[in-house]
Amino acid sequence: MTKIFISCALPYANGPCHLGHLRSTYIPADIYARYNRMAGNEVLMVCATDEHGTPIAVRADQEGKEPIEIAKRYHDMIARDIESCDISLDNFARTSDELHYKISQDFFLYLYNKGLIYEEAIQQLYCENCGKFLPDRYVEGICPVCGSEARGDHCESCGRALEPTELLEPHCLTCGHTPVIRDSTQYFFKLSHFQDQLEEYISTNEYLPPNVRNYAENWLKEGLEDWIMTRDMKWGIPVPLEGAEGKVIYVWGEAFIGYISSAAAWSRRTGIPWEDYWNDGHIVHFIGKDIIYHHSLFWPAMLLGHDCKLPDDIFAGEFLSLEGRKMSTSKNWVVWVEDFVKDFDSDLLRYYLTINAPLNKDTDFSWDDFGRRINDELADVIGNFLHRTFTFTKKFFDGKVPEYKDPSEEDLEFEKAIKELPDTVGELISTMKFREGLVEIVKTAKKGNKYFNDQEPWKAVKEDMQKASNCLYLSNQLCKALAILLKPYIPNKADAICDIINIPKDNAWDDSKEFLEVGHEINKAKPLFKKIEDKVIQAQKEKLYANLEESETGKDNKSDKKDNKDKKGKTDKNNKSKKDNEGEKMDLISIDEFAKVEIKIGKIVECEKIEKSNKLLKTQIDIGDKTIQVIAGLGKRYAPEDLLGKKVPVVTNLKPAKLMGELSEGMIMATESAAILTPDDCEIGELLM
Ligand code: MF3
Ligand code: ZN
Repeated sequence: MTKIFISCALPYANGPCHLGHLRSTYIPADIYARYNRMAGNEVLMVCATDEHGTPIAVRADQEGKEPIEIAKRYHDMIARDIESCDISLDNFARTSDELHYKISQDFFLYLYNKGLIYEEAIQQLYCENCGKFLPDRYVEGICPVCGSEARGDHCESCGRALEPTELLEPHCLTCGHTPVIRDSTQYFFKLSHFQDQLEEYISTNEYLPPNVRNYAENWLKEGLEDWIMTRDMKWGIPVPLEGAEGKVIYVWGEAFIGYISSAAAWSRRTGIPWEDYWNDGHIVHFIGKDIIYHHSLFWPAMLLGHDCKLPDDIFAGEFLSLEGRKMSTSKNWVVWVEDFVKDFDSDLLRYYLTINAPLNKDTDFSWDDFGRRINDELADVIGNFLHRTFTFTKKFFDGKVPEYKDPSEEDLEFEKAIKELPDTVGELISTMKFREGLVEIVKTAKKGNKYFNDQEPWKAVKEDMQKASNCLYLSNQLCKALAILLKPYIPNKADAICDIINIPKDNAWDDSKEFLEVGHEINKAKPLFKKIEDKVIQAQKEKLYANLEESETGKDNKSDKKDNKDKKGKTDKNNKSKKDNEGEKMDLISIDEFAKVEIKIGKIVECEKIEKSNKLLKTQIDIGDKTIQVIAGLGKRYAPEDLLGKKVPVVTNLKPAKLMGELSEGMIMATESAAILTPDDCEIGELLM
């Protein structure tokens, strides 16, 4: 039995949760936690809301409220969102909790007393009108790099991180006055001191995934600079030193400690020491990729300074875009969890966001793809297998698991597949391959459907009862395994399957290896996975695009307009231009969808007219590894001999179709007026990207 300390990155308490949060952090963490609990490990999974920092303070000023009120509002929303998706946190705290203040201040003092935090006077912007310093986004001005409007910490247009003093034409966000430069003493953490130790940590830690290691190594190569640990402002944790009045610990200097203070709060509640989980256990931080720097370097350095054990694993989920474009809360290009779970079971979201792509790849949420996967996989594969097994068992075997005797070869093969599944999936989840584990489950359910079809129990009940009986015996066994193995992924649905199979819900992972006894009685089947109708998906898309239009015509929206950093989604290649000529409805596809189209350079090696048609030509095209036949509508513009020997781009993975009775295995790319594109400089067989 191993102890496992799992943390989820602390969400800022300045907006509710959207799909990006869930995909990068909470769903993977929860799958991992649930699996490990089922596998008999002791899990402590914690999180909290990150409630300090200027975004929350600025928003409070704007709304005429106290920052704590803003933080509370969003803490409650986030707690509700996380719960609605069944993220099984053991504790969900707040960085405004007293315990967090205490632990953070002690941590700061410890580093200070060890000489790892030092004072230095630096130049800061100060508003004489408001009588306060203007850290981060308390000031706005012109970006010195690209000339756009920017905030004190960041330029949205060019993406540069900025110091407030770098801004041109700075003005105070609160009153508009031009600030002056004043000296102010701040506290710095000696990050540079840990260069060697961090290099060692990053290069020897066997668990770190490649994306985390690569980022960290690149930054280490540039050399680490000391980090400013304090701010001149009111909202935050006061610096616990004399002479530091009016200063608070920088939000990134204390947010991590939320992992510990949330665990400590759990200990207070349960009486179980969290330290055992940290010191003797396996520590895994689940984060989004935008905060790899902080977690792979800054946080380990703070821990080293504090003589603490370092995290064993840092698992960083990559970005999620929405319908092919970068998510943006300020543009309302976002799907809020709250809205999603009003219309769909949260398990559908857990399923889709997991199966959609491995976490170390950027991916896209598209409503069409969501609908398709739920219908084709959850409903048609898993749902169908469960349902036919249950209804058949009810109808022909009185709801009881029938006898298994003299298994055929197919029976034995299927039995083997069922028996292998738990270890295969368990191994994949424990090595963070969540998607792959789920894919194995779906594949086995597919096998189940094939087996069921091949055995034809509906015929066998009349002709060969034992064959039908074996089929239903094994099918019920797979249903049972699915009920247990699906639990980390889709806990509600898994429980519903347990109900039908009539087994308890609190199963250990290995219970999935135990077969149901002959004669075990199951309950009446209920439809578990309903198909999503096309019009429902259309309605969601329309809502999304309507939101966007609304936000672009300047109406207010739900979240912080100036998100600290636009977290989810980096590039937006495929739809910048489309966005610009809005007006017609956009129908954007994601880069993944585009990547499904295979286009190769081919050479037309034979070409003839199709007699009965005035525009169709029958061509043979050499695409490198083979020659395919393509029927092309180019005959009005070209005579066959014009095309002979020409190189053309060809779509090579179209479903074959018949045109005028002739097989066509691809499509020559041409313009609307049937002009071919002639890529003379390309090689035959080359792939177009
Ligand atoms: N609130 C930060 C963000 O959303 C994450 C803080 S994670 C912690 O980017 F480790 F610092 F807690
Ligand atoms: Zn001012």
